[in-house]
Amino acid sequence: MEKQRGTFSNRLGFIAAAAGSAVGLGNIWKFPYEVGENGGAAFLVIYLFFAFVICMPIMVGEIAMGRNTRSNPYGAFRKLGGKKWGIVGFIGVLSGIFILSFYNVVAGWAFGYFLQITFGDLLGQSDYSAYFGDYVAHVSDNLLYSLAFMVLTALIVIAGVKKGIERWTKILMPLLIALIVGLIIYAITLPNASAGLEFYLVPDFNNVTGKTYYMALSQAFFSLSLGMGAIITYGSYISKSDNIITSAALVTTADALIAFMAGLLIFPLVFFQGIEPTEGPGLVFVSLPGIFEAMGPILGKIVGGGFFLLLCFAALTSTVSLLEVPTAFVTDETNYSRKKTVMGLAALVFILGLPSMLGQGAVGMFTEFMTYGGETKSFMGVVIDIFSDIGLPLGGFLISIFVAYRWRTHRAADEIEQGHKHFRGSWGEKFFNVVISYISPIVVGVMVIIIFLNKFTGLDILGGL
Ligand code: TRP
Repeated sequence: MEKQRGTFSNRLGFIAAAAGSAVGLGNIWKFPYEVGENGGAAFLVIYLFFAFVICMPIMVGEIAMGRNTRSNPYGAFRKLGGKKWGIVGFIGVLSGIFILSFYNVVAGWAFGYFLQITFGDLLGQSDYSAYFGDYVAHVSDNLLYSLAFMVLTALIVIAGVKKGIERWTKILMPLLIALIVGLIIYAITLPNASAGLEFYLVPDFNNVTGKTYYMALSQAFFSLSLGMGAIITYGSYISKSDNIITSAALVTTADALIAFMAGLLIFPLVFFQGIEPTEGPGLVFVSLPGIFEAMGPILGKIVGGGFFLLLCFAALTSTVSLLEVPTAFVTDETNYSRKKTVMGLAALVFILGLPSMLGQGAVGMFTEFMTYGGETKSFMGVVIDIFSDIGLPLGGFLISIFVAYRWRTHRAADEIEQGHKHFRGSWGEKFFNVVISYISPIVVGVMVIIIFLNKFTGLDILGGL
């Protein structure tokens, strides 16, 4: 029985949706605090290297797998590699559910900040760090905001690939970019902005540790939505005439550019206000309100509210891609309707996210959930460690091994060539083959072991490199 699957309307539709998936809280919330915690510009340099050299070819592999099989990650691995490989795809689907569970909580914070800036008295607080701490520990508001976010995500996913996912991304992403550019221009004219730019742009490799390398790798996977099959799923909706190579290059470039711009915005603000760059996950929420406040009560509300609203939209196109993965899995593999599937999954994800939400100060057990490798982590911290920091590179490693040694690069090339007549024999093909067959399996494979050891035992093999 052949079921009707959705498709994107054209190539731009895929690029918009994949870029929408990539660009999100990962770029604007996670990237700046990772840069801050991991020594500044050196992290940026290593991050860009991983994004373009390691991750971009893996993205090509994911898109090719999806388009070739017209399947969700589980189906794609199973069709091309047999039952056992199907398990890898299935684990990807599960990871998507867990990543979405915490992502939705953070998206709820952004939504709450939009409301509190626009309609509340957030601007004008004397201590934004304390405000943020109280804010995330306040359960009832967060419950409401993240529930709202989950419902919105579910509605868009129910609407389907073309009407739901594509349309909004095309309108709202350019708006977000324009606002960020405007804010950057303002931020870099502030006193002490140059110290922030120096921290962000002048690499000091003396501060680099093993952790700098692997956090940059994990962040590159997270930001590009790679390693768990989200891009396999989106790839399954594109047309045979699309050029996979240029699509992957465009998505990677757009994503890296927006992360880079987020840093250009945040670090001048951080140094202007005397905030510690090592502030952690609150960094964006603590550093941004200050400049909106400086704009005066009315303009500040408009620009600040607008910023967080657009951030919500960026997050929404990412939550949509995360929910689409298990949705495609269930609708491909069973007879459940799209609507029922989405509602069930959204409820599941929301419930799985509750401990992440409660573990921000409200409930001690989830706030100090586990201690390992010399650090006490919240529930959210543990989920990020397992499913994102370790899980995504591990997934990327397995995808490389699968494409290179099970599916085989010549079959991947057959698929890529359908939308790219001169792929065979090109430099692009050589680069793809070398990265997928050797560089990625070795570098990412070794990194996964190092990340694992460092997280769980505190051992830093690359320390002092
Ligand atoms: N890339 C998104 C961001 O940067 C998050 C995201 C969406 C994601 N889909 C994903 C992360 C799939 C990992 C896997 O905000």
